[in-house]
Amino acid sequence: MDFGAIARERLPELLRAMPKAELHIHIEGSLEPELIFELARKNGVALAYPGVEALRAAYAFTDLQSFLDIYYAGASVLLHESDFEAMAMAYFRRAAADNVVRAELFFDPQTHTARGVAMADVIRGLASACERAQRELGVSSALILCFLRHLSEEEALQTLHDALPYREHFIGVGLDSSERGHPPEKFARVFAEAKRLGLHRVAHAGEEGPPAYITSALDVLKVERIDHGVRCLEDPALVRRLAAERVPLTVCPLSNIKLCVYPEMAGHGLPALLAAGLCATINSDDPAYFGGYMNANFLAAFAALPQLGAAEAYALARNSFEASFVDASARAAMTVRLDQVFARFA
Ligand code: ADE
Ligand code: ZN
Repeated sequence: MDFGAIARERLPELLRAMPKAELHIHIEGSLEPELIFELARKNGVALAYPGVEALRAAYAFTDLQSFLDIYYAGASVLLHESDFEAMAMAYFRRAAADNVVRAELFFDPQTHTARGVAMADVIRGLASACERAQRELGVSSALILCFLRHLSEEEALQTLHDALPYREHFIGVGLDSSERGHPPEKFARVFAEAKRLGLHRVAHAGEEGPPAYITSALDVLKVERIDHGVRCLEDPALVRRLAAERVPLTVCPLSNIKLCVYPEMAGHGLPALLAAGLCATINSDDPAYFGGYMNANFLAAFAALPQLGAAEAYALARNSFEASFVDASARAAMTVRLDQVFARFA
């Protein structure tokens, strides 16, 4: 492919048009304020904010925890199976508009079961949206059940146990919520159990936590992808290992700016990760809270980082297919679609 033949002015159009996979999206983080208030009214849930504008105005975060406090409050409006389905369908419509052809969605069951919502309602609602996304929008998807790392491993084990009657509806487990002070080692047994059950494994590591958390996520939890992972750049030996083993990193540019992981996009580590040969991908994390969905993330990163051009756009999309948990034939089909779009621009 002659990437040099693609004019820089056409990059935004190319970024929007190219097919891509989203591998790091917390579905509860796609709840837009309008839907939060609609569900709050319908379900009779009281919110600490008078309206949509006041809630949006509170989205000025200083770190991960300041975001998580508002994120969990927003999720409190989800009570019924249909609420989970409506939330995920709203996400899938936006994803399809951004030419996302595959989405692997995180969900946090403990955020809901702690409020008395049945596991069945959470998983059935999301699974039904996944089926509709394929049927109505042509978007392939899967669910990844995340454990909240600020809670205990016993609670994580109980959550996995409670979800097993719905095993057919999720493909893996993840680890999210407050990272600092909650190292991967805390969840060694539950991840071993997930592996024994044939589930995929991913974990947030190296977002706010140190590079050592990335190493222990790989060695102790046996994860197949690292979510965020940008702090690996502080440890050159770890960067070499991630490149050699082609461990995918699901990087979230707008999230990193909103949560002050980087002070500004111009200093983001994404170009360094790609230059080091890592399988880095671009994702939206919590798009309703961080200022945009997939294409907004691509556009913001490419606008601020002149090192990123057509070759990097292609690498990021290809990496997203390589890192996804689809089978080889689906991966090949997505890559063919990518090549067709690039051929139109070259
Ligand atoms: N839960 C939702 N978004 C998260 C993030 N960026 N890091 C950790 N936990 C999360
Ligand atoms: Zn995340």
